[in-house]
Amino acid sequence: MKYWAGILCLTIACVKPTLKEVNLIPKPQKIEIKDGAFSLNFNTDLIFDSLFYQEANYLKELLNLKLNGKNNTIELLKKEGLQEEEFFLNITKETLKLEASTPTGIMRGVQTLRQLLPTKTNVVTTKIPCVSIHDYPRFSWRGMLLDCCRHFMEKEFVMRYIDLLAYHKMNVLHWHLTEDQGWRIEIDKYPKLTEIGAWRTEKDGSNYGGFYTKEDIKEVLDYAKKRHVTIVPEIEFPGHSVAAIASYPYLSCTGDSINVGAEWGVYKDIYCAGNDSVFTFMEDVLMEVMELFPSKYIHIGGDEAPKYRWEHCEKCQKRIKEENLHDAHELQSYFITRIEKLLNKNGRKLIGWDEILEGGLAPSATVQSWRGEEGGITAAKSGHDAIMSPTSHCYFDYGLDATDLKEVYYYEPIPVELTKDEAKHILGGECNMWSERAPQELVDNKVFPRILAMCEVLWSDFEKDYDDFYSRVQKHYPKLDFLGVNYGFESVPITSKVVFNNNIFTVSLIKGSPNMKLEYSINNEPWKKYVSPFSIDSTSNLKAIGFKNKNPYGEFEQELIKHKATGKKIHYNIPYDKSYQGNGDRNLTDGLLGSTENFRDGYYQGFSGTDMEVIIDLDKITTFSTIQTTFFQYYLSWIILPASISYYISEDGENFEEIKSIINKTPIMQEGKFKHSFLFEKENIKAQYLKVIAKTIGKLPEEHPAAGSDAWLFVDEIIIN
Ligand code: ACM
Ligand code: ZN
Repeated sequence: MKYWAGILCLTIACVKPTLKEVNLIPKPQKIEIKDGAFSLNFNTDLIFDSLFYQEANYLKELLNLKLNGKNNTIELLKKEGLQEEEFFLNITKETLKLEASTPTGIMRGVQTLRQLLPTKTNVVTTKIPCVSIHDYPRFSWRGMLLDCCRHFMEKEFVMRYIDLLAYHKMNVLHWHLTEDQGWRIEIDKYPKLTEIGAWRTEKDGSNYGGFYTKEDIKEVLDYAKKRHVTIVPEIEFPGHSVAAIASYPYLSCTGDSINVGAEWGVYKDIYCAGNDSVFTFMEDVLMEVMELFPSKYIHIGGDEAPKYRWEHCEKCQKRIKEENLHDAHELQSYFITRIEKLLNKNGRKLIGWDEILEGGLAPSATVQSWRGEEGGITAAKSGHDAIMSPTSHCYFDYGLDATDLKEVYYYEPIPVELTKDEAKHILGGECNMWSERAPQELVDNKVFPRILAMCEVLWSDFEKDYDDFYSRVQKHYPKLDFLGVNYGFESVPITSKVVFNNNIFTVSLIKGSPNMKLEYSINNEPWKKYVSPFSIDSTSNLKAIGFKNKNPYGEFEQELIKHKATGKKIHYNIPYDKSYQGNGDRNLTDGLLGSTENFRDGYYQGFSGTDMEVIIDLDKITTFSTIQTTFFQYYLSWIILPASISYYISEDGENFEEIKSIINKTPIMQEGKFKHSFLFEKENIKAQYLKVIAKTIGKLPEEHPAAGSDAWLFVDEIIIN
């Protein structure tokens, strides 16, 4: 007998699914893998508490159950005393038992079950490993913002995202519905909002736009409700309102007729805060919004509202006086507080971006912290709730050079500055998918796989282990394939580290993911396998390509410029901005140039509102004949070429002589993104020190959408030859 029992154990051990086969994202709080499997088949029965009728229907459809007879059973049972989203999933060979206190808890468990299913179309007649799971979320707000304004997204696409959120236990879709570039929600009382405001004329003359009818929205809401995902609509006040003003010009300070925005960025035309009909409009719109959306929270934006118009508007100034306000910031606070009263009167709560803190926070507002963590910290310390979505970790419209999978995974939503009690005000977090550079077909590529890290940050509550997470992500990809997700890279696939020493560049190529292989080519010579750092001793073009699982995985190209200042020390008389440091103190002489596509590529150094003033030490008296400093301009991101640039030389580092001053002639509002070099040529210049002063234009001018804000200087290299 003993002998046979031994054989039996051995057999079971062989078929016992390993922990690796049970691959869940987000990782459950508690999981125990058992022997054997539950055989799901046509005859599997489904019994459920009547409270879970909807969820049972969802599951029946999902599993294609015919409920033909009694064989084994799925049970959805009520268990008293659990938190809203908490559940127990206990799978034995005979029974698949899911228990929760609420339908939401059951739905979270159903999604876990969904991840346990094999990735093939017909899921009936399959084996589900025996596991015992007890799961619940760390945070109650686990959201994603979807901007359907900069690019309109079809309602089917929005529903698909709701499903993908549910699959990963995210529970909030923050639906961004109004913007400068498009108003997307039908409002009966103001039909022009969608007749005019939903459409913009693109640069090529084409008409772009779209909107959701109330019926569309009800359909989307119904779809979300089924999956226990809350939709929080965002209707922006008082900024990002150009589309509304284009529809009803009386809503602005000037009353001038303007076009729906066709450029990205921030516009200075915002709702007039001195005009009572603006508040009537706001109330009418929000009443219709509340009629449609059942969410406790209504997001009212509040971000990026330049005060330029208000400062120059008689009506706004009159309001400031009458209401005893100090300035335009307090006027914004007045505006938001009026919205809050309306929402509260209707049993709703206001949430807004962290700018709503400026000039005083509305009494019971929730703050969404995006410009770093400070907004969330200030809110929590003053007893207000906060949602964390700092640009440092949560902006999935940003490139992987700004935020990659690992960085998102290591994001901690509770700032260290908060006490335990204050931390209770952090309801959770959101990843933000702004769509300026992402029409619907590119959204998957930006959101996935980073959202896998985000859902785990917000759901799971244990010590981080990136290796474990990373290996689960690899096994999760077939599930994403099955769901038709067109996911992107995990990090920038190929980067380089270039050091200039002893007159040569030493180049290390860095793989963005383990298991990658790299090849490179210098000046289009034959490709070589990359094994270790290599040297380059002259100005060159470097290309690299990557492979993962034998498939192409990323490309890389870099120009290395060897010139007389390469690698030389720079002294900064004015410090560069911490947010755009580039390559630090070596940036301007590192021999590496920035691109025109992406000013966040790490090769630019930024100066906000200040001049640039640097001194390069060439180590010894050197003869040269050209000086060339290259700046970047993109007026919509407030990055403007310097007004002028001056070159000075010195032999001792103390007495400088101006050798050239160049006035910039490129218009501030010139279209597009481009680089411009300020070149000076003269035979036989002799100096050890070169001082370069680039004068900022200072504040953005009247004609700029963000008039009055500080302009940026962006510079990549000072080339001396
Ligand atoms: C924001 O990204 N402007 C909230
Ligand atoms: Zn005004």
